[in-house]
Amino acid sequence: MKIASRMSVVDSSGIRKVFDLAKNMKNPINLSIGQPDFDIPDPLKETAYEAIRAGHNRYTLTQGIPELREKVRQRLKEIKSFTAEEVMITSGVSGGIFLSFMALLDPGDEIIVPDPYFVMYKHLSRLLGAVPKYLDLDDQFQIDTDRLKSMITPKTKAILLNSPSNPTGVITKREVLREIAKIAGEHGLLIISDEIYDGFYYDTEYVSIGEFYPNTIILGGFSKEYAMTGWRVGYAAGPAEVLREMIKLQQYTFVCAPSFAQYAAVDALDFDTSIYRKNYTQKRDIIYNGLKDSFDVVKPDGAFYIFPKAPGGSGTAFSTKAIEKNVLIIPGNVFSEKDTHIRIAFTATDEELQKGVEILTKLAQQY
Ligand SMILES: Cc1ncc(COP(=O)(O)O)c(C=O)c1O
Repeated sequence: MKIASRMSVVDSSGIRKVFDLAKNMKNPINLSIGQPDFDIPDPLKETAYEAIRAGHNRYTLTQGIPELREKVRQRLKEIKSFTAEEVMITSGVSGGIFLSFMALLDPGDEIIVPDPYFVMYKHLSRLLGAVPKYLDLDDQFQIDTDRLKSMITPKTKAILLNSPSNPTGVITKREVLREIAKIAGEHGLLIISDEIYDGFYYDTEYVSIGEFYPNTIILGGFSKEYAMTGWRVGYAAGPAEVLREMIKLQQYTFVCAPSFAQYAAVDALDFDTSIYRKNYTQKRDIIYNGLKDSFDVVKPDGAFYIFPKAPGGSGTAFSTKAIEKNVLIIPGNVFSEKDTHIRIAFTATDEELQKGVEILTKLAQQY
C-alpha cells in the first residue's frame, strides 16, 4: 500500500529499539514511564462513574463543557485573566500541541525547540513541513537567551517552551522567561508553552511565561497531576484568534475531549494534590542524592525525570548496559539531537528507585 509521503518524516525507531530491548526483561526496574506511579484519586473516579450514570456520554461542545472551561479560567487566574473565548478543552496536552501546531505552522516556518525536548514537538512540526530549530540548553538546562536571539531568522514563527521539562525536570527561571518574552516581543513571535508538569514542582515555584507575554498559548492538562493519562483531558489558553482556529479544527479531528473525563476534571481542579508533590519530592531526593556522586547531573526542580550525562559519553551504550542489568531507562537521543545523556523517570516505588540507583551507580563506577 502507498502510504502518504508525509509519514516518512515521523520516526519512532529510537523508542521502539528501547522497547525491543526491554521485551526480554523479566520484572524490570522500570524507570522509563512518563506517568505517575499512583492511580487516579478515588473521589475523581466516583465523579466519572456518576457522570456516566447521569448520562454524560454524548458529544460535548467542541470547546469543552462550560463548567470545566470556567474552572480552568479560575486555575489560570494567577497567571492571567482569560476570557471564555480564550480557553478550550483538548484531548490531552497532545491534542493541544497538535491543534496549536496545525493552526500556526506553515510549511517552511521555523519553530525554536529547546534541546533536549519532548519528542512530539519534533515529529509534529516536521509532519507539517515546518522546521524545528534546536536550541542547545546550557549546562544547567536553562535557555541561553543570547543563543536564542542568534537563532531567530525571518522564517521564525514560534518558540516552544516546556517548563517543568520532560526530560530534564528543570524549571525555566523567571528572569530567563522575562528575557525570552522581551526577545519574542521584539520579533513578533508566538510562544507555545507546554505546562503539563505545573503540578510537579519541588523547591521552586514554576512560573508561566503567560504572566508577562500575551502572545502565549498555554497548554495544560490532567494526565500527570491526577494520573489521568488514559482519560485524555487537557486545555489550551491563549489569544482568541488562535483558539478559534484550534476549536474549528477540533470539530473535524478530536470532536471533543471524553465527556465523563471532563466532568471528573472539574472536580480534579478542587482536589488537593500536595501529598503527591510531597511524595515526589522524596522520590526526586532519592534519585538525585543517589546519583549525584557518580553521575554528572542537574537537580530536577519539577516533573519526574532526571537527565544525567551518560558515563562513557554514549546514552545508547549506557542504556543498553543498564537494560542488561534489568533497569529500564531511555537513551538521551530519543529526546535530543545528541546521544550524550540518559533519561530516568522516577515514577516507581521508593524501593525500586533505591534498587535502580544502586545498579546504575555500580555501572557508572565501571567507567
Ligand atoms: C512535555 C509533555 N507534554 C505533553 C505530554 C502529553 O500529555 P497528555 O497525556 O496530556 O497528552 C507529555 C506526556 O508525557 C509530556 O511529557
